[in-house]
Amino acid sequence: MNIVVVGAQWGDEGKGKLIDILSKDVDITVRYQGGSNAGHTVRVGDEQYVFHLLPSAILRKGKICVIGNGVVVDPKALLEEMDGLKRRGIAVTPKQLKIAVNSHVVMPYHRILDGLREKMREHKIGTTGRGIGPCYADKVTRCGIRMVDLLNPRVFRAKLQDNLREKNEYFKKVFNQKGFHFDEIYSEYMTYARRLRAYVCDTALFVNEEISKKKSVLFEGAQGAFLDIDFGTYPYVTSSNTTVGGAPSGSGVAVTSIDKVIAAVKAYTTRVGEGPFPTEFDPKMDEEIRAKGKEFGATTGRARRCGWFDSVLVRYAAVTGGFDELAIMKLDVLDELKTIKLCSAYKYKGKILKDFSHDYEVICRAKPVYIEMPGWQKPINAVREFRKLPPQARAYVERMEELVGVPIKYISIGSERDEIIVR
Ligand code: IMP
Repeated sequence: MNIVVVGAQWGDEGKGKLIDILSKDVDITVRYQGGSNAGHTVRVGDEQYVFHLLPSAILRKGKICVIGNGVVVDPKALLEEMDGLKRRGIAVTPKQLKIAVNSHVVMPYHRILDGLREKMREHKIGTTGRGIGPCYADKVTRCGIRMVDLLNPRVFRAKLQDNLREKNEYFKKVFNQKGFHFDEIYSEYMTYARRLRAYVCDTALFVNEEISKKKSVLFEGAQGAFLDIDFGTYPYVTSSNTTVGGAPSGSGVAVTSIDKVIAAVKAYTTRVGEGPFPTEFDPKMDEEIRAKGKEFGATTGRARRCGWFDSVLVRYAAVTGGFDELAIMKLDVLDELKTIKLCSAYKYKGKILKDFSHDYEVICRAKPVYIEMPGWQKPINAVREFRKLPPQARAYVERMEELVGVPIKYISIGSERDEIIVR
């Protein structure tokens, strides 16, 4: 069975925990888009791990992790992550981790440009500053440097020289910056190449070969549906396809090899960075839920904006993503609330809108139409069967299911690995 796990909101849905649980039963886990902008948190006992580039399944012994061609790899960030794990007694071997030869490499000028562009923009996106947008832009404009280029000093030299010639002019003339030294970047990246060489291979061939041997694969999506470059709240999005279509193109595995799509959603909604957010809480409620749900970015530490569950968004993500099952994460964060609201539609200029709109003005000004439900007002983290949840919690979950139109299979009720209900 080959499964894709995606986020159906603005990222941070708790995919790390879900993937960690599901990866127990699969042979290979593949990251297929995004880069070190992602932050997947996994808790095992008293230990907490945050992954940015490494697939979360790296914690499971004997499982293979793949960084696919659709990922933009920052070798500095990746090696720091690997070294961090080594210090905690987990060595990442080339047998366990494979990096796609054709994945693109994040360069220092990408990170700097990310920051400079943000500073200059009137309407800021609120990027993570990890160079993601500029790296994907170079990929598309065909001047990117790939992992395979790093491994061939002659090719790397020529490409880097060519890039710096153009980019240094740009940095000087547009941003009044001094630009970059070839020698510094070249020697820094040659060091990374030496350390990563053994991990790099044609991961598309590798994964397909394993699939032909009936091995099972989990495709680990990063970010969420509304940060998708095509389907998200553009331009307040990331630069890759975070929706299910990213999995085949970002891994080289055919669509026909994918058996199931599971989407993670929070029992409420959060968003980091700028952009429209129809169900956003007022400041007081925002602070309350942020504190309860520990809603701070795993990558940048920024406070996440919080709001009610928005079924208009998730329904759109389900239609465009062909979800088979939903996983509701962090239901326990709502434990103490007296009343819980669910957005079932939007109201705009006196009309009821059942569907998400790509019109910026509509999505910014639309007022949510809420259904109010009573809260359960007791802890639920010890419950392991759906029927044993308080009736109000069951009713809330069932209402979400009905509004989104996708069966809810998993309900996470705490941050520990075992705090989950499987229906
Ligand atoms: P970028 O991906 O760094 O270019 O940032 C673009 C937008 O995506 C910003 O609003 C970020 O806050 C958001 N973003 C990127 N990665 C994540 C993530 O893993 N979780 C939540 N938001 C993210």
